[in-house]
Amino acid sequence: MLLEKCDNLDQCKIINFPKVTDFRGNLSFIEENRQVPFDIKRVYYLYDVPSGATRGGHAHKQLQQLVIALSGSFDVILDDGYHKRKVFLNRPHYGLYIPSKVWRELENFSSNSVALALVSEFYDESDYIREYDDFKKMVENGWR
Ligand code: TYD
Repeated sequence: MLLEKCDNLDQCKIINFPKVTDFRGNLSFIEENRQVPFDIKRVYYLYDVPSGATRGGHAHKQLQQLVIALSGSFDVILDDGYHKRKVFLNRPHYGLYIPSKVWRELENFSSNSVALALVSEFYDESDYIREYDDFKKMVENGWR
């Protein structure tokens, strides 16, 4: 498993999934607690994203996730309150691990792109921080 650290967001990493190459088409797989460092409680996906749209725009208190460009490409902007980093996803055998407490925005979606998210928690709106000012306050207070 290839792990690449993002510069300033130490826990963010690109995970390279196994790839079984075949003249009939390639196959990749993801196993809970193996290629993904958490129990997968939920899967969701973004599709039919209009040109110029931005998704995300929030952080999570507890939730961890892995984001994969199953088809097409998009940028993920990561922000831990101190540093920002842009990650370009464009291959289905790479996933971006995003731990809790990181603000993320997904943008620059190519046409027909599909963003798959594997998530550590069931959907719970109370786990979201949707206002950037609230996120900055949480960062400054050490998430207490
Ligand atoms: P949101 O998480 O803000 O989308 P994104 O981060 O991808 O831009 O969710 C958008 C809406 O969909 C919001 O009303 C909550 C709802 N939603 C669910 O009901 N279940 C889910 O699993 C997710 C991810 C979102």
